[in-house]
Amino acid sequence: MPARKQPAGGIGGLAALGYAVSMDNALTIGLRAGQPVFFANPGRLPIASVAGSLPVRLADIEAAGERLKRFAPLLAELFPELAPSGGLVESALFPAPVLERRLKAAGLPAGDRVFVKADHALPVVGSVKARGGLHAVLAVAEALALDGGLLAGPDDDCRRMAEPAARNFFSSHTLSVGSTGNLGLSIGVFGRGLGFGVTVHMSAEARAWKKEMLRRVGATVVEHPGDYAAACAVAREEAGHSPRLHFIDDENSLDLLLGYAVAGLRLPQQLAGCRIAVSAGHPLCLHLPCGVGGAPGGIALGTRLTLGDAALAFFVEPTEAPALLLGLATGRHGGISAAEYGLTGRTVADGLAVSRPSDLVCRLMVPVLDGAHTVGDAAMLGHVAEAFDAEALRLEPSAAAALAGPLAVRRANLPVLAGRPATHICWATGGSLLPDAEFAALLARAGTRP
Ligand SMILES: Cc1ncc(COP(=O)(O)O)c(C=O)c1O
Repeated sequence: MPARKQPAGGIGGLAALGYAVSMDNALTIGLRAGQPVFFANPGRLPIASVAGSLPVRLADIEAAGERLKRFAPLLAELFPELAPSGGLVESALFPAPVLERRLKAAGLPAGDRVFVKADHALPVVGSVKARGGLHAVLAVAEALALDGGLLAGPDDDCRRMAEPAARNFFSSHTLSVGSTGNLGLSIGVFGRGLGFGVTVHMSAEARAWKKEMLRRVGATVVEHPGDYAAACAVAREEAGHSPRLHFIDDENSLDLLLGYAVAGLRLPQQLAGCRIAVSAGHPLCLHLPCGVGGAPGGIALGTRLTLGDAALAFFVEPTEAPALLLGLATGRHGGISAAEYGLTGRTVADGLAVSRPSDLVCRLMVPVLDGAHTVGDAAMLGHVAEAFDAEALRLEPSAAAALAGPLAVRRANLPVLAGRPATHICWATGGSLLPDAEFAALLARAGTRP
């Protein structure tokens, strides 16, 4: 379909139908110039009108939540860090009063509240990729265990999978994944914990400490000179040749997406614990850093299916790698790359250094997402320093990007938020495992010291 001029009513209708459309001029010019831009998604629909026709249903996400529960006793045995939570991988939601005060001084409405969802401190692997990676590893392990007779049925005692015979069995299988870093850590650490061989194909952006950590747990790290999509392509191709090589595909895997989405199912209880009521009069805004789209897409979907239309989801991407934003704004989904807009894909936010979005996530987000915006490297480094100074949080730049959300969204003047006090959740997606020297270097680049 050739690109068309934008119709008077906005690009959303056509883009939502999958047509390639040209974006409005201001957006295109801003994107090309590497400036922060905001895209309000005109394809967003009432969730009840689309829930029945989406390729992912609430029941699928609930089943993923059940799988994570079913294997919790095994995980508590394999990972001492998970013993206190009985094997569940979950993070806290808490208020960020100093950040909130500072954001209000900068223009956030007086009635708005600001909270942090602390996935950066998720046990074992310290990032948002934990739930999805763990769920995808368990899905492979469970299927193999049932097939190989290690488990008699789905209700068998999963702790049998920690016995030497099971570990021996899993060691003859290899999990493979393409990653900018944190997904590799998640698959690597959980996969090795169960006894699998793990090969992680890492893109050029991946930080050295993440590679070292993977090698320490016995994963094989393959370093690629190219970007994330190139690393994934090699891993996908290789896995096609062996039944014992299981490729976990961040661009297409439903098991990953379902694992990420479980966070949305668990949110209502956490909101209640913080005495946050969500309604049309008091909307909830999720600010989700976005790379290829799986983690934020899963969380957005899980939350909207659980909480309904008063939950709003916004993605934050680097100015040099606005993948999902471009996929949705042009309607070309996984068929577009930020490189077409003269953007390098290079950013201090290694986890978000993705130029081509997941096609699956783009399709899912057309009716679900409220908007996406971009933020530059200097601003992300500033947010790393701000999160540490205001709330003593150790965030990597990819996670700190979420702090740009509340003001960017308020400045976009969306009708759905007009005159309504909102609760903002800045989803802190990673960083607690950052080595001291790495974190100090980030603060130094931001112009502050620990
Ligand atoms: C810290 C952090 N935040 C956010 C993301 C984005 O997740 P996704 O690539 O699934 O969009 C990543 C991805 O690796 C990450 O490492």
